[in-house]
Amino acid sequence: MNKVVEFYAPGKIIFGPGGLSQVGAEAKRLGSKVLVVLGRSAMRKSGALDRLIHLLKGNNLEYIIYENIPSDPTVETVDTGASLAQKGGCNLVIALGGGSVMDTGKAISAMAANEGSVADYQEIEGKGRKFKTKPLPFIAIPTTSGTGSETTSNAVITNTKLSLKKSIRDFSLIPEVALVDPELTLSLPPRITAICGGDALTQCIESYLGKKSQEITDALALHAIGLIGKSLVKAVKEGKNLEARTDMAMAALLSGLCLSNSGLGAAHALSHPLGVYYKIPHGLSCAVLLPYVMEYNLPVVTKKLVKIAQSLGEDISLLSETEAAQKAVEKIKEILAAVGIKENLSGWKIKEEDFPQLIKGAKGGSLNNNPRDTSDEDLIELLYKMTGLY
Ligand SMILES: [Fe+2]
Repeated sequence: MNKVVEFYAPGKIIFGPGGLSQVGAEAKRLGSKVLVVLGRSAMRKSGALDRLIHLLKGNNLEYIIYENIPSDPTVETVDTGASLAQKGGCNLVIALGGGSVMDTGKAISAMAANEGSVADYQEIEGKGRKFKTKPLPFIAIPTTSGTGSETTSNAVITNTKLSLKKSIRDFSLIPEVALVDPELTLSLPPRITAICGGDALTQCIESYLGKKSQEITDALALHAIGLIGKSLVKAVKEGKNLEARTDMAMAALLSGLCLSNSGLGAAHALSHPLGVYYKIPHGLSCAVLLPYVMEYNLPVVTKKLVKIAQSLGEDISLLSETEAAQKAVEKIKEILAAVGIKENLSGWKIKEEDFPQLIKGAKGGSLNNNPRDTSDEDLIELLYKMTGLY
């Protein structure tokens, strides 16, 4: 590899069952008044919020709770949270939840320190202001194993006025601390475990195959793909299996490092508009698209797909290179089927007449990083396959 590369990661990663117990000491190190960002009610019910609050109080920290973050946080969700943090004099943000909650916390940590609306900073043509001031310190505590937001430099925010789902992105947005405690995922329902795992898998594979791939993230991606191959089905079928949950938590964390440093591909590019127009869960559309995108990319990344097949434990000794690469695609299909992810989204009634809008919404960084260039006709072909309209 003869190119100059860069790699960014959180200031500190704390990983392991029981790791939540360290949040008080970490918070004390970074601030004195915390904005705690939460989703709807899962963390209240599970007792995780009580533990978090107990640990903050035990370290003499003040806090404000900002909860009920929706599954697709909007510009308004972030702007309201940022003004809450500013008015409350918060100097630290902690997000406890899934990808949407972490993305919201991350965006609030930036907007509490910068002027204007988060919409001004989204990656939208003609917008995309740069952050002038360093975000507030941010601790991300994931309760799902999927988006990897705990280690990424972006946050995906829905702009309802423009019907767009776009990121804010800056390496200063990477959480100061990624605190990953796999015990927090033990109560995740099977369907959410499957969808989040599908997202992590797609992130690892797309960043590994992408144009910006590099040696550091390649190593992480292949390891994470192996963990997912070993443990996703188990985590879905035996939710209380801590070893499987730990593997998936590690895979998600690694997938975040991969996507943040090496980008994504066509599956993620198409998933964003599908989320905006049809409210399809991000991980679900990514996972359904993944095998089709791998097949599309096969001619230009054959050798890398062979490595994926090997990471997934496939015996390829008697196969040609193309057959071995195809084996990776087949194995991914097998894993997804085993966790209940269907081969297309026919149930979502995606309409052909919406294809131009979907393609328009797919344009951007992720699509440009796909290893094989895509024309509009290629994207239409992928949409036909994944929508089941063929
Ligand atoms: Fe994703």
